[in-house]
Amino acid sequence: MPAQIVVLGSLNMDFVVRVEHLPAAGETVLGSGFQMIPGGKGANQACAAGRLSSRAVGTRMVGRVGYDVFADHLKASLAAAGVDVAYVHATRSQPTGIALIWVDRNGQNSIIVASGANHAIAASDVEGVRAAFRGASYALFQLETPLAAVAAAMKTAREEGAKTILDPAPACALPADLLAQVDVLTPNESEAMILLGGDPAAAVVNPAETAAALRSLGPRAVILKLGSRGCYYDDGAETHSAPAFAVQAVDTTAAGDTFNGAFAVAMAEGQPVAEALRFANAAAGLSVTRMGAQASIPTRKETDEFLAAR
Ligand code: RIB
Repeated sequence: MPAQIVVLGSLNMDFVVRVEHLPAAGETVLGSGFQMIPGGKGANQACAAGRLSSRAVGTRMVGRVGYDVFADHLKASLAAAGVDVAYVHATRSQPTGIALIWVDRNGQNSIIVASGANHAIAASDVEGVRAAFRGASYALFQLETPLAAVAAAMKTAREEGAKTILDPAPACALPADLLAQVDVLTPNESEAMILLGGDPAAAVVNPAETAAALRSLGPRAVILKLGSRGCYYDDGAETHSAPAFAVQAVDTTAAGDTFNGAFAVAMAEGQPVAEALRFANAAAGLSVTRMGAQASIPTRKETDEFLAAR
């Protein structure tokens, strides 16, 4: 069966520690509750798509791991979510990617990623995985794999008829020819500011103006992810403000990834954009109520029940 959703991106083993407050430079803080949890922005989005799909929509992951025990755990986590991992290839040149994550009492986090094998995927590798994109409706990308590989894979995905969704995280200035290949760009506030050359610490005051400015850089549609304020969608023909669901935040890690996987599932199922945004907000909201990346991503049943109760 061709996968309708294909994710090219990172797989990381997350080393997670809870702290009262995030440490300042030079400060030592005592943490607790250490856990190793499957993560990586790409793998999280694939996991979300796999767990949230109604099974009519298959999901496939394309990425790189090392030859180590983390690789086995990360592939097993995705396979258990129903994701095809046949295109997750191992390299001897690097270890599997890892992330060090601190989560404070308000659920806010700091993350350091050691990319390892995630950076061993090159633009020249993309033609060799062209078949992974064949028949896909949506191809999802982030920026934890090399930019040249992302650009090449986006071009390939579009040639194979897929729509592209780019999560510009971690953010950096992006070339115009890459942004021109993006069907849906999904920055959070600080990523939007970086793409527009502004102050990453500044809040988005006017989502409509910010989304329009981002669309003028090349993407056909923009979803601005505004955290507890929900999201704002603009594709030039329709706009939507979709409020977030009120939840008790435990850990925001992978909320944005869950949003993207859920949005792609709903769109691949043919749901209207407004419904897809509501579904994605619900799944992301549920993920915030639990610790960890893939450990926090809800199932389709949980998300449908959450929505039915509202
Ligand atoms: O988006 C959350 C993810 O960022 C974590 O799982 C971590 O691996 C980093 O890639």
